[in-house]
Amino acid sequence: MEKLIYLDSGATTFPKPEEVYVAMDQFYRNYGVNPGRSGYDLCMVAGSIVEETRKLLTEFFSGTDPNRLIFASNATDALNLAIFGLLQEGDHAITSNLEHNSVLRPLFHLYKHSGVKIDYVPFDSHGFVDPEEFTRRFKKKTKLVVINHCSNVIGTVQPVQEIGHLCRERGIISLVDTAQSAGKIPINMARMNIDIIAFTGHKSLMGPMGIGGLYVREGVEIRHTRAGGTGVRSAVRTHLDEYPYRLEFGTPNLPGIAGLNAGVKWLLRQGMSNIHEREMQLLSTLRDGLREIDGVTLYCQDKLANHIGLLTFNVDGLEAQDTGTMLDVDYNIASRTGLHCAPLVHKQLGTVKIHGTVRFGIGPFNTVEDIESAIRAVGDIARLRQEKKTS
Ligand SMILES: Cc1ncc(COP(=O)(O)O)c(C=O)c1O
Repeated sequence: MEKLIYLDSGATTFPKPEEVYVAMDQFYRNYGVNPGRSGYDLCMVAGSIVEETRKLLTEFFSGTDPNRLIFASNATDALNLAIFGLLQEGDHAITSNLEHNSVLRPLFHLYKHSGVKIDYVPFDSHGFVDPEEFTRRFKKKTKLVVINHCSNVIGTVQPVQEIGHLCRERGIISLVDTAQSAGKIPINMARMNIDIIAFTGHKSLMGPMGIGGLYVREGVEIRHTRAGGTGVRSAVRTHLDEYPYRLEFGTPNLPGIAGLNAGVKWLLRQGMSNIHEREMQLLSTLRDGLREIDGVTLYCQDKLANHIGLLTFNVDGLEAQDTGTMLDVDYNIASRTGLHCAPLVHKQLGTVKIHGTVRFGIGPFNTVEDIESAIRAVGDIARLRQEKKTS
């Protein structure tokens, strides 16, 4: 079979570095026992992988206390833990039109069922939110600002540092969704004035699916909205308040943690900035190539500063899904089409009616040849469409 050109790294990175497969396999074969529940040797080794990974990720995000690094199933799970654990009836929260449904839906649920008020900040024609737009929406009851660090539709990196600063001045908690940015660009929580970050393991952190989490800054407290086993202090009737147990419930995803550990170490060995720079060169080639094609519309791709290696487009006269199918069937190129779980981005771009856009997400294993093939394929599809229209 012809080689698959994988341009769907915005959804998940694939393949993973060899070390990730090896770490997961070795973990399960050699130490696949439940950590923290007993004192035998294997159990201690399993526990030490969890604790070492907490430390690794705490350092990665420039946190200070590994116990405040919480493992969850993915970014969605982590965001739910934070949003439901922070907001209560009467509270007000501000978010943006750039958000993924993993933020929009928990917030909407609280709006509908608990009377939490929500405001949405639009993005400008280049795809960036203006921090001042948050200030304008601050109210006495504003408890939380949730902001997507990097859009999964248009790839723009948001000014979270400035937004965090404005929140700090007013004692408002800032929660940043780093699902797309973690592993692509540096995240220093202290310098960026972030109170809580939510991350996922399976995208640019190069880990497997089913693992993600939160880092919660000291001084910020999230209520536990679930309860269960923690493996320690079992006689206590209520769920534990101390971190990390406060926000962790039941047996952790240890193969996932072992794989994430290997993924992050691989990333650090390669150098995150080296990968990002390469991906941005490929993005620039891709953007310039697509821009030259008649009948291709790119969205918010005019400035590539403050961007990650991801872009979105449509071929005029075609629904995104049709373009995606042609890319897949005729060219063996994997893209992602539709609304990308971010309906408000498409509402603002005016692309809901045509059922969204096509997204190319560049990953660390893409080559110049992949990008050239993608440009050629979109060029063919657009030409074919023009010919059909005029015939
Ligand atoms: C910006 C953003 N937030 C959150 C998520 C959800 O991540 P997960 O599927 O790991 O929960 C995604 C996944 O595509 C995303 O792109």
